[in-house]
Amino acid sequence: MQEELLQLKNDALFLILETETLDAINKITIQFLGRNGKLTTLLKKLPLLPPEEKPLSGRVANEVKKIIEETLNSQRSKITNQKFIQKQEKIDTTVLGIPPKIGHIHPITQMISEVIDVFKSIGYQAADGPEIETDYYNFEALNIPKDHPSRDTQMTFYLETKDVETTTPGEIILRTQTSGMQARVMEKMKPPVRVIVPGKVYRYEQVDASHGFEFWQVEGFCVDRHIRLTDLFGTIDFTLRKLMGEDIELKFATTNFPFVEPGVDTYIKCTVCKGQGCSFCKMSGWSEIMPAGMIHPNVFNSVGYNSDEYSGFAFCIGLSRLVTLRYQMNDLRLLSNPDLRIINQF
Ligand code: DAH
Repeated sequence: MQEELLQLKNDALFLILETETLDAINKITIQFLGRNGKLTTLLKKLPLLPPEEKPLSGRVANEVKKIIEETLNSQRSKITNQKFIQKQEKIDTTVLGIPPKIGHIHPITQMISEVIDVFKSIGYQAADGPEIETDYYNFEALNIPKDHPSRDTQMTFYLETKDVETTTPGEIILRTQTSGMQARVMEKMKPPVRVIVPGKVYRYEQVDASHGFEFWQVEGFCVDRHIRLTDLFGTIDFTLRKLMGEDIELKFATTNFPFVEPGVDTYIKCTVCKGQGCSFCKMSGWSEIMPAGMIHPNVFNSVGYNSDEYSGFAFCIGLSRLVTLRYQMNDLRLLSNPDLRIINQF
């Protein structure tokens, strides 16, 4: 009996380990353990054995049954796992992938690139300057001494200088205008100079639909022999039409900035209200877009240029305003609003 049991166990294990499908496993289960299975039939003979053989044969029979059952189970899970792995490995390479979410360039940055391209096409280079600036470059070198009333129009953020031994209090500021780069660049370059400087500026100001405490400007200047006011008008007209469309309406008015003489204010017909008057243009129908003028001889003196030999003009594009006017946004603050419903429109 014991030999028969061991033989049966070997036969069963051999068959089980050869199986590759769950069907085959089920068949073997029935073949050995079913009601008329081989092991079941053999076990039925146990009670008929002589009493001295019964205990040992009984124990062997139990073990054989246990081993067969365990082997069936482990083979079953092996087949199931393999099926699962095979399923996973079936990669359909023709299915389109999920496109990753990527951001896009902010409208201000887009506009800066466009401005640089337009000015490059007429011979300008772009420069970059510090947002933390000295009072000297921001004001003094531009013919704006300490007590000049025009400082009142550029409410200034002063930075602490208590740990900076070499600086007098009030000397370090957040730049209020990119014009400070006029002096920085001219100190380093000899004419002819054609440079634009895009950048962020800061003012301690009441914020409203058309004013921010931080906003973007593009300063520009051109210095050479025989530069005239008409060159300035031509430059403004050409570049603004390239940026805002040929059909825009522009008008010029005289104005006063200490670093230019004469000073010119450029107005564009408000694109938000088409000149009808709205909160963005303060009901005037026009929006100030590009102040400018002929560079004052005192600025040339502070950078070491001979003002009898050279002349030039400077201008400043209100970049944030340009963007809001282009997209007919009625509030400058929308440009720094993190709401994706706004920003995803550009
Ligand atoms: N920097 C001036 C401001 O922010 C704007 C300005 C006016 C710049 C006239 C110029 C200029 O270059 O010529 O208010």
